[in-house]
Amino acid sequence: MIDRTTVQKILDTARIEEVVGDFVTLKRRGVNYIGLCPFHNEKTPSFTVSPAKNICHCFGCGKGGSPVNFIMEHENLSYVDALRYLAKKYRIEIVEKELTKEEMDKRNDRENMLAANKFALEFFENTLNDTDEGRNIGMAYFRERGFRDDTIKKFCLGYSPDSFEALGKAATKAGFSRKTLVDVGLCIENQRGGLTDRFRGRVMFPVHSISGQIVAFGGRVLKKTENTGKYVNSPESEIYHKSNELYGLYFAKNAIQRNDVCYLVEGYADVISMHQAGIENVVASSGTSLTTGQIRLIHRFTSNIIVLYDGDAAGIHASIRGIDMLLSEGMQVEVLLLPDGEDPDSFARSQDSTQFVDFINRNKTNFISFKTNLLLSEAGNDPIKRASLIGDIVDSISVIPDKIQQAIYIRECASKFSMREEVLVQEVAKRQKSKISGETQATQNSILEKQTIEQHNAYPVAYKEERQLLRYIIRHGLEPIEIQSNGETVQISVLDYIAGSIEADDIPLQYPIHIQMLEEALQQDGDLRSYFLNHPDVTIQNYAFSLSEDKYEKSALYETKERESERLNRLSGEVRTIMFEYRFALVKERCAELRREIETASTAGQTDRVDELLQELKEATEERKQISAVLGNRK
Ligand code: CTP
Ligand code: MN
Repeated sequence: MIDRTTVQKILDTARIEEVVGDFVTLKRRGVNYIGLCPFHNEKTPSFTVSPAKNICHCFGCGKGGSPVNFIMEHENLSYVDALRYLAKKYRIEIVEKELTKEEMDKRNDRENMLAANKFALEFFENTLNDTDEGRNIGMAYFRERGFRDDTIKKFCLGYSPDSFEALGKAATKAGFSRKTLVDVGLCIENQRGGLTDRFRGRVMFPVHSISGQIVAFGGRVLKKTENTGKYVNSPESEIYHKSNELYGLYFAKNAIQRNDVCYLVEGYADVISMHQAGIENVVASSGTSLTTGQIRLIHRFTSNIIVLYDGDAAGIHASIRGIDMLLSEGMQVEVLLLPDGEDPDSFARSQDSTQFVDFINRNKTNFISFKTNLLLSEAGNDPIKRASLIGDIVDSISVIPDKIQQAIYIRECASKFSMREEVLVQEVAKRQKSKISGETQATQNSILEKQTIEQHNAYPVAYKEERQLLRYIIRHGLEPIEIQSNGETVQISVLDYIAGSIEADDIPLQYPIHIQMLEEALQQDGDLRSYFLNHPDVTIQNYAFSLSEDKYEKSALYETKERESERLNRLSGEVRTIMFEYRFALVKERCAELRREIETASTAGQTDRVDELLQELKEATEERKQISAVLGNRK
């Protein structure tokens, strides 16, 4: 139990940005911080942390809260255990009393399983360090592999004695139930109704979760025997979902964040040797191909990943599929082929960290050219093979969310295959079109945006343009722009200009959420962005969030430090343009509608009506021409 004063002390000490910062890379945005939400899959950050209010909140999925709430949610802990976690982080002392049998039973399964793994970890470590068997066999093996003492300690490496029941007995004696030991996979129920240890006579690699809890073990055989696998691993359980863990991430996360890049290798030994060589931003997929969940874990800390392949890897082809997934998650992927016969483990032992990193930086290639080169060398001049190869590479390029990046790869690929760029552009477009209703596209749009588009058919009239108007209102609503009015230059706010033009030209917005937001904006006098981002209606909050993102805006006004007068000029120009683009979209639709009406009327033989409509069409076309001239004949 934790007493009230200690609880209060914990609550007072825990800083939300520090607590969240252990799991999410945060960037400053105004008075807040922002990062990729750890609770749902996203590519653009909507997870906001407010140091002032000491809370966090995701505008995408709605999760968040106080530091305690965050830890409960993120680490799947009870309230009390979340407090314990924070106490540990801030070195606040809690005097814990020994657990009675009853209390032990009361703790839920999950916590029992984690506790059992922690017990096993210490058991394996002690066996390695303090028993003859451990020292002679386990430690001798680690030494032979060149693992230093500090490395062994850091990764909590251990040894499981070559016995059927050593761990089971010790754990039972310490109060762990049979059920817990079996559930967590440390023991297996045998035919005689007893418990058998899963790990026997193996060196032990504990798997830490992102927050440092022991969720699984991998045990490696020492002697090569015929029909035992090299590794025995903990089974999937309540606390271990293999597809959502990455070996080494707990030790790597700070370095990944610091270096803004993550190295991806295959095995435990690779991670450990690289660490030992001084390269800490490395994780292992543990021999399987990457899952979205794992990519998401990495993406919290960086968007850059470098995949290290063995020089002689036969598995490159299999893992290439996994890399397409990295690309579609918006990661920048580079590939490094190690010298023949080396794996990251052996290579790290022959180099110091500077040499290794240097080698990586000199020899890495982006994934698309890596794949192109690899496949090209295999296809040679066989035209059929080459064709299917191009398809394959276009598949990879088409999943990249960043259009500029995509264009760069298309160019590169075109030159490698001596093809026209346009052909590749078309191929990419084809693939994207067939995907447009599916996942990738959907996750890019905010949920609401998608719903709105669905409600208003595929290509709603002036939807994009209305959205653009709202974007400027949210981002720059109260900033001044200059316009010409009766030959005079006057200053007016962005909001007043947009609202005034809509009113004067009688071109009202059509989408309910836009109408509502414009109305509310006109009634505010404070900062519009924060008004909408804190709106009581969560739909509006989310929508405002997606609008307040930079990426669609024509220029990054916030980033550049331009002179005030330049800024004024630029913003004035931009706002006028988006207003004209809105008018243009409307008049274009009006022309199309008139043509349809003319056709109906003429089929029905209503000649007077046709004349009337033709006159209207003429006027609309004239207006269209004028706007088009203003817009620089871009339409
Ligand atoms: N692996 C596994 N079971 C196996 C083989 C491999 O779980 N039978 C996983 C392990 O996570 C291992 C990774 O796949 O770390 C990569 O395999 P490998 O390169 O064979 O393992 P290393 O850890 O590099 O082992 P070592 O260098 O000690 O042979
Ligand atoms: Mn290896």
